[in-house]
Amino acid sequence: MRIDNLSTTMGTAVATGWEPEKLSDADVVDGEAYHRALYHNGNTNEPVNWHKNSVGKLIETAMPHIVDGSLVVDYGSGTGGSAIELLKSLDERGMKIELVLIDPLVSWFSKARELLGGRDDVHFELSIENDSSGRTSFRRLEDILDGR
Ligand SMILES: C[S@@+](CC[C@H](N)C(=O)[O-])C[C@H]1O[C@@H](n2cnc3c(N)ncnc32)[C@H](O)[C@@H]1O
Repeated sequence: MRIDNLSTTMGTAVATGWEPEKLSDADVVDGEAYHRALYHNGNTNEPVNWHKNSVGKLIETAMPHIVDGSLVVDYGSGTGGSAIELLKSLDERGMKIELVLIDPLVSWFSKARELLGGRDDVHFELSIENDSSGRTSFRRLEDILDGR
């Protein structure tokens, strides 16, 4: 599935891994606000210049290290802004990867899930967990990737 087909897949969960539950109105607003800071009117086909230019440099650096079938980890995915631009570049080249998105911030990460949850090449992992006493800690990357 290509990134420019996002709208037709909203609500269809194909991606694997974490999904939000009990999202508050404030979380929804927060995710939407950051997404709209990256994309004019929230349209993923219209990145604002600062986002397009900064992520463009990142993608330029990463692309020579990515081949078909690569495992790519986006640590600190937020609303998916970098992932969306990376997937656009890969889709244009006809390349298919396994993309793992990782973030601790439920409000932003939920927006990423909404935007990219229709893709079968994307996997979501929340980077924090609560132990039995309710204490929150970051998960180890090795545990998150679980042998991938
Ligand atoms: C500036 S945002 C960038 C988001 C995204 N990469 C983009 O291009 O829009 C930084 C992200 O890193 C996440 N973050 C901060 N500390 C983190 C940590 N220790 N582990 C994983 N993600 C973290 C934040 O929740 C936030 O979503």
